[in-house]
Amino acid sequence: MPELDTSQRQAPDCVMLTGFWYRALPADRVHRNRLHKAMLLEIPLVIGRDRAGRPFALRDACPHRGMPLHCGNFDGENLECSYHGWQFDAHNGQCQAIPSLTADQNLKVDRIYAGSYPCEEQDGFVWVYVQEPGPAGAGFGKPENAPDPAPEIEKFSGKYKLAYLTADMPVSIDHGIIGLMDPAHGPFVHQAWWWRSRHSIHEKQKNFEPIPNGFRMSAHTPSSNSAPYKLLRLYAAADSITTTIDFVLPNLRRETIRAGKYWFSSLTTVTPITRNQCRIDVVAAWNIFRWLPFGPELLKFVFAKFVEQDRRTMELQAEGLRHNPHLMLIDDADRPAKWYFQLKAAHLEAKRSGTEMKHPMTGPVTLKWRS
Ligand code: FES
Ligand SMILES: [Fe+2]
Repeated sequence: MPELDTSQRQAPDCVMLTGFWYRALPADRVHRNRLHKAMLLEIPLVIGRDRAGRPFALRDACPHRGMPLHCGNFDGENLECSYHGWQFDAHNGQCQAIPSLTADQNLKVDRIYAGSYPCEEQDGFVWVYVQEPGPAGAGFGKPENAPDPAPEIEKFSGKYKLAYLTADMPVSIDHGIIGLMDPAHGPFVHQAWWWRSRHSIHEKQKNFEPIPNGFRMSAHTPSSNSAPYKLLRLYAAADSITTTIDFVLPNLRRETIRAGKYWFSSLTTVTPITRNQCRIDVVAAWNIFRWLPFGPELLKFVFAKFVEQDRRTMELQAEGLRHNPHLMLIDDADRPAKWYFQLKAAHLEAKRSGTEMKHPMTGPVTLKWRS
């Protein structure tokens, strides 16, 4: 038997990438003048909305003695720590007041910051930019700006519907992501009488190409792999339907399906919560079922089934992973997973060396598998 080469043995390293935007909470769960807890990349956060409805994110630990700030008071502008009443500006984290100071004590209050993170609302989610960690022991500094806005779902008309689904997965970010891009589990995990069974397995061939920070499954007429496809076929001739699927670091999967003037677009993210816990958020926008009374519900039902099947699978997988088994990635079905690990390694290497990232793919590639 041939030996597995090291690239086939590639195992998840579970490194969580900083310097990117991550989805923190669904926007409809973040209420004005209330404080919410969230966790991203093992960083505890307090998230809220100011009086005007603008979201903010601070590190959920008071710079005085570490009290979680979400336990404090919020007046729509400043957060007040529940331990000694220090007050912080919700947006930039700057300290506004320290009640214990006397008139002749000249501590420079405005030089103290609760760590703040760039925060934006986009397509129904509150996003937080997790910056590169500062030098150890430097304490909280002034807020940094994000280099670019939070990722947005591509839309192709002015009017559309938007819906989201979210599920916690008890596995590392790497298993969450390679599970998301894995074509071979479909017939086994996503069985349903109205969808497909394992007897429908057949050979497939798909073209992939490199894109900045990721790769694309090139525009093609879908087989039956994507959830909204069977519904879309009710609206347009099968051969007028095209779909592209992109994966982009650190965790973005964009799927776009177009059928004449109808379109369906989704942005799915897998967000590292802790080293061995992630969360999948699917947000979809579409203009196809706007006039059909049960369209959105039907779509949500289909997606909810899929996500629940994935979640349940990963829950079981976590049991198997607990004792660090040897793992392997095989061609061609696991090639996207290999690219993911290579992209991640190339990104980290570029950051370490301060050079431009070297993309692991040199050109278009055709992959074949049965699913
Ligand atoms: S711990 Fe927050 S004010 Fe002291
Ligand atoms: Fe799946």
